[in-house]
Amino acid sequence: MRQVIRDLEESKIREVANAGLGRSDVLAFWFGEGDEVTPDFICQAAIDSLQKGETFYSHNLGLPELRAAIALHLSRLHGTVAPDRIAVTSGGVNALMIAMQALLEAGDEVAIVTPVWPNLTAQPLILGARLKPIPLKPVAGAWTLDLEALLVAVTPATRVLILNAPSNPTGWTLTRDEQQRILDHCRQTGTWILADEVYSQLYYEADPAPGRPKPGAPLRREGRSPSGGAEFSNGCAPSFLDITSSEDRLIVVHSFSKSFLMTGWRLGWLVLPAAITHDVGKLIEFNTSCASVFTQRAAVVALQRAGEITPRVVAHLKTCRDTLVPLLQALPGVELASPAAGMYAFFRLAGFEDSLATAKRLVREAGLGLAPGEAFAPEAQGWLRWCFASKDPQRLVLGVERLRIWLTGQG
Ligand SMILES: Cc1ncc(COP(=O)(O)O)c(C=O)c1O
Repeated sequence: MRQVIRDLEESKIREVANAGLGRSDVLAFWFGEGDEVTPDFICQAAIDSLQKGETFYSHNLGLPELRAAIALHLSRLHGTVAPDRIAVTSGGVNALMIAMQALLEAGDEVAIVTPVWPNLTAQPLILGARLKPIPLKPVAGAWTLDLEALLVAVTPATRVLILNAPSNPTGWTLTRDEQQRILDHCRQTGTWILADEVYSQLYYEADPAPGRPKPGAPLRREGRSPSGGAEFSNGCAPSFLDITSSEDRLIVVHSFSKSFLMTGWRLGWLVLPAAITHDVGKLIEFNTSCASVFTQRAAVVALQRAGEITPRVVAHLKTCRDTLVPLLQALPGVELASPAAGMYAFFRLAGFEDSLATAKRLVREAGLGLAPGEAFAPEAQGWLRWCFASKDPQRLVLGVERLRIWLTGQG
């Protein structure tokens, strides 16, 4: 067994969840998924595909119909993206691993903004790369980027810069200006940007007014404006796709999991420079061969009917956020800012610096399941992550009540 694998940390989120094994009374908000099942019409498309006998492999890069549907979906949001830039993968996490396999040699330097979802730091380590963390800093409960520090940290020796914005767990989101400056800098240093944008559609600050495309709306005009498309509100968080071309050293990772309620389907995609798509297809062959065909068929339908799913999911998540955050803010010792995007409230609990121990105690003593901040970065010690994707927002209210009672008992 390779030493780097032996040295990998076990998931601290799982460690907390294991503390609650067999306890049906625990209100669990530890994992990054909601409790709402995939819409029927998506499930039906998978059933239809299986009943038609579609039980075989597909092209490594995915069904042409799905690649075209993804390209159309992105083109509506970000300006023209051609299908030859799309590779379908078996989930966002698989997309990330394939992108890293494509870019990283052992020993390469990988800069990454933290705190961040642990898979994003584990994958480069598995491939033998070296991490250079760029920590966000909490300012009045909001994790904030020191852009100048990032620009100093990324040098010609940096092979890849990993950015997960909107972020899991912090909800931190890049502004258009920050994206532009990072892009300009990485063009100078020759650094690849690996942008994990799986939460980009779960964005609550968008101006839903004019300019926002409706399903079936004509495509956004080709070519980028000098302002990087900032004048165009598409309902998404700013994306690197708005300001780049197919020649840039940029790989964007997406997933059907969050905005289409499809976590268990294991389907995601990569947006690549067209020149490397063919080679990435070889990597998919040697990893998974392809995503299963019936899930790809379901994904085509999900994209065709995206207007019936994602806006509803986003509206509901916003209700959840606006239910949970003020209640948490009202508790003594709790510090957090309302996240602009994503599905997590990430909060500091003053006086409880060991977040793993606190999360385990909360499971045992309060029946409340949260993820410990230290799972995402050492600097997030003392913080806890609460996934607010709850079909019934009353569960969130009940959870905060459990936390309140537990805190009261701590004297
Ligand atoms: C930041 C981030 N990226 C990627 C993923 C991958 O999602 P999936 O593999 O379900 O598509 C997740 C899942 O939680 C995530 O939080």
